[in-house]
Amino acid sequence: MQRMTEDDLTDQVVSRIEATPDPRLREVMSALVRHLHAFAKEVRLTEEEWLEGIRFLTSTGKICDDVRQEFILLSDTLGLSSLVDVVNHSDVDSLATEPTILGPFYVPASPQREFGASMVEYDDGGEPAVLRGVVRDESGKPIPGASLDVWQNSATGFYAVQQPEIQGPTNLRGVYRTDDQGRYEIRTVRPVPYPIPDDGPVGRLLADTGRHPWRAAHIHAKVSADGFVPLTTHLFDRESDYLDSDTVFGVKESLIEDFVAAEDGTLLCEHDFVLRAAAG
Ligand code: BEZ
Ligand code: FE
Repeated sequence: MQRMTEDDLTDQVVSRIEATPDPRLREVMSALVRHLHAFAKEVRLTEEEWLEGIRFLTSTGKICDDVRQEFILLSDTLGLSSLVDVVNHSDVDSLATEPTILGPFYVPASPQREFGASMVEYDDGGEPAVLRGVVRDESGKPIPGASLDVWQNSATGFYAVQQPEIQGPTNLRGVYRTDDQGRYEIRTVRPVPYPIPDDGPVGRLLADTGRHPWRAAHIHAKVSADGFVPLTTHLFDRESDYLDSDTVFGVKESLIEDFVAAEDGTLLCEHDFVLRAAAG
């Protein structure tokens, strides 16, 4: 009787999945098994390493709760979240603004704020900044009444959702609308670089692999309008550290903007968002 080879085993598992009624589940699961087996074969995974992997995933699960999602953080730091984003928005000829990851600090139902209003509700010494521009379609036509749901961190590096008792729950968050010429204007402060939560298994993995936990300074935006594909993206500060080594691989060249000092010392950041028309 012949001994089972590594490849025989992979084939057996894949063929066991072939009866999966849902064709997409069959495709995903058989590719997952093939790649997982190829990984174990390539690195010649030892039994102790396999067990260490199980322990790591177990501790990743155990630290998750209603607000902390360590598995998404793992996906972010392995570049998987950004890869899924690129895979799903890979039209290189598109003129629409490039999307990037949502991140864990988005909170729905931010306060509606007037054109030009400030979203600073708690002053911890951030540099005053104005963010403005136009929301357009791919032909350049302004989109009046578009919604911009924006959120960012304060000068201490924290989002309001991380310290609501200090900043208040809605500091540096707001929903703005474009005017009849498609313009928006937001008063805020300059965002600062910050470390992702690194006191759990993902932080330990970053340290063990010689990586830092920092994100480049950015402002998040979800931009939407009737008849257009909703956009989730960031604006990055060109002077920020970590643009080349953002720990979650979220930086795209087209999303980097200047914060230029005006005469009164306020920083001005101008950026147009371009939305793609929805199909049909
Ligand atoms: C964020 O930009 O808010 C973020 C994204 C991924 C992981 C942690 C934070
Ligand atoms: Fe962020």
